[in-house]
Amino acid sequence: MVYFAAMSKKVRTAYVCNACGQDHAKWQGQCSSCGEWNTLSEVRLESNSVAASRSLPGTQQATPQLLSSLEGQEVSRLRLPGKELNRVLGGGIPAGALVLIGGEPGIGKSTLLLQTALRMLGSRVLYVSGEESSQQVKLRADRLPGDNPDLYLLPETDVEAILTACQQLHPALVIVDSIQTLYSGALESAPGTVGQVRECATRLLRYAKETGVPVLLVGHITKEGSLAGPKVLEHMVDAVIEFEGERHYQYRVIRSVKNRFGPTPELGFYEMQHTGLKEVANPSALFLSSSESAAAGVAVAATLQGQRPLLVECQALVADAAYGTPQRSANGIDMRRLSLLLAVLEKKCNLRMGSKDVFVNLAGGLRLDDPGMDLAIVAALLSAYFDTPLPPHALFVAELSLTGALRLPVRLEHRLTEGQRMGFIRGFGAQASGQALPEGLTYHGLAHVAELLPTLFG
Ligand code: TYD
Ligand code: MG
Repeated sequence: MVYFAAMSKKVRTAYVCNACGQDHAKWQGQCSSCGEWNTLSEVRLESNSVAASRSLPGTQQATPQLLSSLEGQEVSRLRLPGKELNRVLGGGIPAGALVLIGGEPGIGKSTLLLQTALRMLGSRVLYVSGEESSQQVKLRADRLPGDNPDLYLLPETDVEAILTACQQLHPALVIVDSIQTLYSGALESAPGTVGQVRECATRLLRYAKETGVPVLLVGHITKEGSLAGPKVLEHMVDAVIEFEGERHYQYRVIRSVKNRFGPTPELGFYEMQHTGLKEVANPSALFLSSSESAAAGVAVAATLQGQRPLLVECQALVADAAYGTPQRSANGIDMRRLSLLLAVLEKKCNLRMGSKDVFVNLAGGLRLDDPGMDLAIVAALLSAYFDTPLPPHALFVAELSLTGALRLPVRLEHRLTEGQRMGFIRGFGAQASGQALPEGLTYHGLAHVAELLPTLFG
């Protein structure tokens, strides 16, 4: 009797939603939490799995404490080499933080993390590679600047072996490339499955919280654009940084989409060179093409990304629809935002957009969602519609409401000052009485979008 009890392993089957990370006791076609269809995967939770026991890291029995009796402590942060990654993380990586860096294959995640490790002089770093052999990592390291004498490589996918190595080495930072390749012996499923990803991330989370050592995790993004593995991974980690860029362009963007220790969305810019990723000091220059600024259908938006202003060129093409239903295409901005702006133009400026094909792009394949860009998109559309270039060296900055009224975006002065620095001499936006504006830049404040047309083209 006793013998059988010892032999039987307690196994519980649960179904985890890939979209929202919710657990379900039985399989169902639709997730009752987020409403998505066909997103449930089976996970086998065994009694010795860490994820199975939901309690967090090293927490013995916690007791309630009065908030007022607690002392607020500034989190200590490990400064990483270079400015961009630090800024996106909110000023370095906090002690004990688990940070996920997601991106499509080949975008440069391994390059960024390896060059970070190589430049961390004076810090012991453990770089765990589950995808490449030590030889491959070494070959890549030879191309990159920096030579950290205290950098250790570990080609390993077993999470227990990785944690053992961590305990022996006492590193200041652990990098794991990638979470999808790891597996834990506590589960029978294959690496990359929902259960394994969750189990391994939980083990690493526990290690980070217990020791205070920050862990950087690489995660792959699927073709549909979501992080492979369950959404639960995004819930577990302290920060999620997305790595994006167009294959046809040299530049790469890192963007914080979640950060428990800093502001979002903060952006960082790099250029991919043959010696790794080089930081871009002046990103506004990257998304302005001086040769095209005199063309019809081009307007420059003064946007704000996190704490930093960024100028970006909006390009529009408006043409008579040749076949049946007019086409709409938006690259870099939300398609629904474009539809809304077109409807406002149709209704409030009496333009016949309904019979036109409309294409809108942000220069350089950039993707932004600042509502302060509305006016620039509208100006580009008007310029394309009338096939007339906009006044030279002009900036546009305002949010548009459904009534066609223009609204001030946050930190107008900050945006305009960036424009002035980049050689712009006039700005168009919402009425800004009482706002401090940079001298040397003529600002045209408008109340309604209908005023834009006569102001621009007379
Ligand atoms: P990689 O970091 O391997 O991407 P990920 O880890 O996100 O899959 O980046 C691979 C690409 O970067 C590859 O196409 C080659 C290019 N690359 C450079 O252009 N310069 C370099 O110095 C390095 C190391 C890579
Ligand atoms: Mg890689």
